[in-house]
Formats: sequence, structure tokens, C-alpha cells
Amino acid sequence: SAIRLIGAPVDHGSAQRGCLMGPDALRTAGLEASLRRLGHDVADLGNLTPDAVSTRSSPNTAIHDLETCAGWVSALARASYEARRDDVIPVFLGGDHLMSAGTVAGAARHSAGEGREQFVLWLDAHTDFHSLESTESGNLHGTPVAYFTGQPGFAGSFPDLEAAVKTGNVCMIGIRSVDPAERAKLADASIEVCDMRQLDEEGVGAPLRKFLARVEQANGRLHVSLDVDFLDPLIAPAVGTTVPGGATVREAHLVMEMLHDSGLVTSLDVAELNPFLDERGRTAILMADLVASLFGKRVMDRPTRSIWP
Ligand code: ARG
Ligand code: MN
Ligand code: MN
Ligand code: MN
Repeated sequence: SAIRLIGAPVDHGSAQRGCLMGPDALRTAGLEASLRRLGHDVADLGNLTPDAVSTRSSPNTAIHDLETCAGWVSALARASYEARRDDVIPVFLGGDHLMSAGTVAGAARHSAGEGREQFVLWLDAHTDFHSLESTESGNLHGTPVAYFTGQPGFAGSFPDLEAAVKTGNVCMIGIRSVDPAERAKLADASIEVCDMRQLDEEGVGAPLRKFLARVEQANGRLHVSLDVDFLDPLIAPAVGTTVPGGATVREAHLVMEMLHDSGLVTSLDVAELNPFLDERGRTAILMADLVASLFGKRVMDRPTRSIWP
């Protein structure tokens, strides 16, 4: 299929700097060439910049960089919509997870126009379900799921959402760090939360297979959002919000391989890569390799010699 790499050097959704280097680290890891080797038609659009927008400031004084973040949401929603309209699969190279407020909004807008249901697979240690009122850190990378599912409180601050994703169409896997305010709101929402405990007991294959069957049944479109901290920090140190006890290399590859086999993925984010915190590029290399798995690289395609530095 045709793949469009889109750099999203979003670095204002968190107080910790460094995610702006994420897109270039993924390029340096050889992402484009490895997707070409798999037979895909790949174009790298380079990096986007945020739109100039003016926003109503929030009464929550913890929030920082609201205007820049809103500008990113606007620019990314457009890029995502346009890629889907051109019938290519956009792969957004992040950039902190605020990026997904835009990428999912744009994909959902396109799916709504085609009369197709939008589904989201959220691979993350965190649920990122804060509203602008509830975030205590003020880091807006903790808010995208609340935004793109149309939760209240974003009007006038973030761009108006053209099509919300139904909470029942979101599946989260890898969850192991949820703030109290998020937990309270998640209890009311019908989001499927598959936490690490469930993964330990059932493995990652069972819940994913069920979710993919639902997407297929609905003839839906599937956006996948992969946060670096879905992975265990021992294998993926390059992220500002590490949480111990994450997915292993094989669990993560299995998810990607199953997604490839499903043929359902229509858009993808690689989020939260902070190369400033990496060790000799190992996290960037792993993330690029996971993306390759999602686009068809198989276990048997991997060389004997380790790719790890
Ligand atoms: N819940 C925490 C907060 O809101 C952590 C969010 C981490 N999100 C992420 N995309 N890494 O600050
Ligand atoms: Mn944070
Ligand atoms: Mn996240
Ligand atoms: Mn996270």
C-alpha cells in the first residue's frame, strides 16, 4: 500500500523537552528504507509546523503551551484528513502524544464522510483521558483521548471537533498508570481498557483478536496510536514518562504482526519518542522495527545477527 511519512515534532504537550527530535531519530533508524524493502510505496513529507491559532486560555493554570498545542492539533488534523482523502496510510512520526488529538480527529472526520466507523487502538502505559480541567501536570499529552472522543471542556481551546470517535470504538492495551480523575471518567465511558494485569493473564493476542474482529464486523477504519511507554523501559528508555512493567519486544511485535495480518490499519502514530533520553538509538531502532512489523516484516525476515547496537 501507499504510505505517507509525516513528521510531527510536537514538543509542547509535555514540560520535558526532546520529542521534537523524534521524527529525525525514526528517519535515522532507517524507517523509510525498511518500508520500501517490504514493497511499499513510501513518501516522506518532511516535518509539519503548527498552525497559528488563537485560543481562549483555560482557567486551569497548570496548563502550559495551550496555543502551540492547539496549533498542532489543527495542522495534524488537516494532514491526517488529507492523507486519508488521498487514500494513503499516514504514519505520523512523533512528537509527544498531544499529536494524536489532531491525527485521530482528522482520520475520524474522513471516516465519517465515507460513512465508516472510526476505531482507535491505543497502545500506552497511560490512558491520556484528562480534560483541560482535570489535568494536574498541565501536560497536554495527557488529554488526546478525551478530546477525540468528544468529552466536554475543550470548546474554544482546541479546534472544534468535526467527528468524535465513539468511546465504545476505543481499545486501550498496556495500561498501568491512570490518574484518579481519569479513572473516574473512564468508569462512565465505555472504553475498553486492557491493563497489564489482563495482559499477564491472557496474553496480548486474545483481547486484540476480539477487538480486531469488532472492527472487521463493523467494516470500520482503524487508527493505531503507539506510545513508546507501552514498552517496558528496560527495552525502550527514550521516553519522558517511563512506567515499569510494560510490554516486551515479542508482545509488541505480536501486536504489530496481528495488525498487519488484519489488513485493517488505515493510520498510525509513533508517539513520545524522546531521542535525548535514548541509549545509542536503541529505542528509535526498536520503534522503527515495530512499524516495519505492522507493514509486513515477519519474524523469519529478521537477520541472524542482532540489530541491537
Ligand atoms: N497522566 C499523566 C499526566 O497527565 C501522564 C500522562 C502521560 N502521557 C503521555 N502521553 N506520555 O501528566
Ligand atoms: Mn507528562
Ligand atoms: Mn500516551
Ligand atoms: Mn504514555
